[in-house]
Amino acid sequence: ADALKIGIAGLGTVGASLVRIIQQKSNELAVTCGRPITITAVSARDKARDRGIDLSTVTWFDRPEDLAEKGDIDVFVELMGGAEGAANVSVRTALQRGLHVVTANKALLAYHGVELATIAEEKGSLLNFEAAVAGGIPVIKALRESLTGNSVSRIYGIMNGTCNYILTKMEKEGLSFAECLKEAQRLGYAEADPAFDIEGNDTAHKLSILTTLAFGNQIAADDIYLEGITNISIEDIHAAAELGYRIKLLGVAQRTDTGIEQRVHPTMVPVDSVIAQVDGVTNAVAIESDVLGELLMVGPGAGGNATASSVLGDIADIAKSQPGAQRVPVLGHPAATLEPYRKAQ
Ligand code: HSE
Repeated sequence: ADALKIGIAGLGTVGASLVRIIQQKSNELAVTCGRPITITAVSARDKARDRGIDLSTVTWFDRPEDLAEKGDIDVFVELMGGAEGAANVSVRTALQRGLHVVTANKALLAYHGVELATIAEEKGSLLNFEAAVAGGIPVIKALRESLTGNSVSRIYGIMNGTCNYILTKMEKEGLSFAECLKEAQRLGYAEADPAFDIEGNDTAHKLSILTTLAFGNQIAADDIYLEGITNISIEDIHAAAELGYRIKLLGVAQRTDTGIEQRVHPTMVPVDSVIAQVDGVTNAVAIESDVLGELLMVGPGAGGNATASSVLGDIADIAKSQPGAQRVPVLGHPAATLEPYRKAQ
């Protein structure tokens, strides 16, 4: 089958991880995706920077808008971030051109998701954004696919890895808020402007996307009660612990008699609850619905590999869905190539 040609806009932590994984696993990806995945073009701010990846064979574009408009690509992968500016313009351009788009950009979707979805639907393009909410946790897939036929009543969870990392480290290592934030930035978890993390906006962006998937409303990111973790002190954390609670930054969306309620704020959760045990950069999303009951998903919520993992899953979905793909192996690998089972000794 023909290769799926992808163009990546943005080579920060996530973009560089994605390139590395696609290059290292090209043979197995060609099999599991039904066709080879080839990076044909990229755009990033600093061409000279050493990212530890080989980009000698790809076409460089200085502007993401040009990559979206002129790149020899089937899929535009947007990993720049930001609701306005280059990300917004280039995703729009790519969709207008009839390309498929994969993005990890929650702010963009929170403010322009409905317009972008409208263009994608008109053009018959796929717009995939698994990485935009809760990093590596397949929560978009769960809502969009697995829970088909369920009526969701409530969604809540820990959706910002940076905040959870800070709260965990303050409690367990006694470090200051500022030190923990600095470490989260060093590890590539935080937003370019970390105020979005610690003031709760990032959680609100993600929550607004989940709310729309769950309840079918217009996205309402600015209509969320919002309180971040900037006022949480080590004393608060210890006082909560003495009462049998831990403090987590939660996003909550639920149906009420009068409409939909959305809120983001630090919450005391009982120390023996599952969500209280979710530490560090790990995220957790709970979905309550009528047919299934409660689904709880826990996993890595931020960072290069966690996010790239979801981006790659979105790319694979596109590769498989396009005409001409090899048959998708039912058991994840072609049945004829399965190896004999070797029992561990
Ligand atoms: N800054 C975000 C977080 C990145 O810490 O969760 C993942 O969306």
